[in-house]
Amino acid sequence: MDLSELLEIADQERSAQKPLQIRCCVAAGCLSSNSLAVKEGLQHAVTEAGLNDTVQVCGVGCMGLCCQGPLVQVHRPAEPEHPGILYEQVTPEQAPAIAASLQSNASATTQPSLQQGDLTHPFFTRQRAIVLENSGKIDPERIESYIAAGGYQALCHVLREMSPAEVVTAVTRSGLRGRGGGGYPTGLKWATVAKATADRKFVICNADEGDPGAFMDRSVLESDPHRVLEGMAIAAYAIGATQGYIYIRAEYPLAIHRLQLAIRQAQRLRLLGSQIFDSPFDFRVDLRMGAGAYVCGEETALMASIEGKRGVPSPRPPYPAERGLWGFPTLINNVETFANISPIIRNGADWFASIGTEKSTGTKVFALAGKIRNTGLIEVPMGTTLRQIVEEMGGGVPDGGSAKAVQTGGPSGGCIPASAFDTPVDYELLTQLGSIMGSGGMIVMDQSTSMVDVAHYFMEFCRDESCGKCIPCRVGTVQLHQLLTKIREGRASLADLELLKELCDMVKHTSLCGLGQSAPNPVLSTLHYFEQEYLSKLVHP
Ligand SMILES: Cc1cc2nc3c(=O)[nH]c(=O)nc-3n(C[C@H](O)[C@H](O)[C@H](O)COP(=O)(O)O)c2cc1C
Ligand code: SF4
Ligand code: FES
Repeated sequence: MDLSELLEIADQERSAQKPLQIRCCVAAGCLSSNSLAVKEGLQHAVTEAGLNDTVQVCGVGCMGLCCQGPLVQVHRPAEPEHPGILYEQVTPEQAPAIAASLQSNASATTQPSLQQGDLTHPFFTRQRAIVLENSGKIDPERIESYIAAGGYQALCHVLREMSPAEVVTAVTRSGLRGRGGGGYPTGLKWATVAKATADRKFVICNADEGDPGAFMDRSVLESDPHRVLEGMAIAAYAIGATQGYIYIRAEYPLAIHRLQLAIRQAQRLRLLGSQIFDSPFDFRVDLRMGAGAYVCGEETALMASIEGKRGVPSPRPPYPAERGLWGFPTLINNVETFANISPIIRNGADWFASIGTEKSTGTKVFALAGKIRNTGLIEVPMGTTLRQIVEEMGGGVPDGGSAKAVQTGGPSGGCIPASAFDTPVDYELLTQLGSIMGSGGMIVMDQSTSMVDVAHYFMEFCRDESCGKCIPCRVGTVQLHQLLTKIREGRASLADLELLKELCDMVKHTSLCGLGQSAPNPVLSTLHYFEQEYLSKLVHP
């Protein structure tokens, strides 16, 4: 495969496009509400209406507004800037009506049985798609579809035009920070692994995604798997690795299936394997399935799991960049981090750095959930305020309620009160508020939510998921959970509340890994902003 062959595939794919496309979401959310039958119904209706020459029905990835699925979008490839028409909650029985509206060239609103979505709503217009640029547009099961969208051109460019050091510099200059939670500068991590001298090096994509309510990484893998493979290949070239692993939880069968398919397709076109783009660069990617333990997302536990050992964390240093998989230098990045790489190469580091805020560049994908009208997946430039996300994009709390807080960062994060909603989303600012950016779970709570219940829920999660290796976490999370139960049930005294605070401090500062170190965060943040709720539940002597 060389560049001209790649471009030829892209041209062929584009010229095979029909004037009208009916895109039907076949990502997990919509599939669970029968979108496959909708897609089949649409294909049947198009055939029945004799429109096969002009209309193409294609399965695409997530369109974002998952709560209204199955989603179907009618799009004209010749008018890429035109948003098209979006249909929500489509049933297989509605397929003929959609086909009829195409045939008569009638506007969708003349079909009363169809529910039309508003593509001019801030939910869509406030987004800035970089990671999700192909999501909902391309067929994730066909490599040609990705190539037609410009896929694998960044890898080709890197192998032909750039030295490994130049790639590391570009990633560093972009300001990209790890999207797996910690926000560590990606370029710095790549530079450290690139510098290490060793016979072998590895690249690992962390697709363990264990935070309750989070589905960003799953969605990227289901909707655009080649983008992650391309990002990993570019990383491997930059650091000098020839083998990559994607560590993915077994509960993600669709993402696994599409990744397996994508790897096979890329190998067939020699975009993975040996002498990629006729260069001396070889790179293979294999999948490793995790059994779904939250702690296996922690990098040292993850590597132990890949090595076939029990997935428990070990002390750092040494960091994986120095001594990782089987003792060799290893680069571990999150799915979304890798998904940002090809756009950075294609559009330049300065382009990426100009998006977002000074220290948090680019965009962030969030899984918006909880007491909110529009739940689903969004991608916004860093610096977008929580209010813009919750009230404008999310449409606020249903039935006239008002938001009380938003929980970010899952079990490692915290609750941000509505009074701080004007804060721009940025790594440092969220940390200052006592929460974290995390991997992108964002749960909105309304006035009926008990903050003690929220803290109790997350502590229960951490207690259950603690691997038990170190005492502060193994015993501390049990005791914290017991104290929170006592408070919740109105059996606790002021002394118990003091004990809760002391114990939070101890667990935070003495646990071995990030799970224990951050387990007290939901308690501490709710105590900070909503202490009155705790006090009101105490028994008074
Ligand atoms: C308990 C625990 C669970 C984690 N789970 C994940 C995860 O599911 N996905 C992920 O990318 N990072 C997770 N991390 C962070 C990883 O250890 C690691 O920092 C990250 O994968 C690095 O990638 P990045 O620099 O691209 O963010 C977790 C950390 C801890 C402490
Ligand atoms: S902090 Fe918890 S999860 Fe981490 S090593 Fe200790 S016991 Fe295991
Ligand atoms: S899964 Fe279909 S829109 Fe998200």
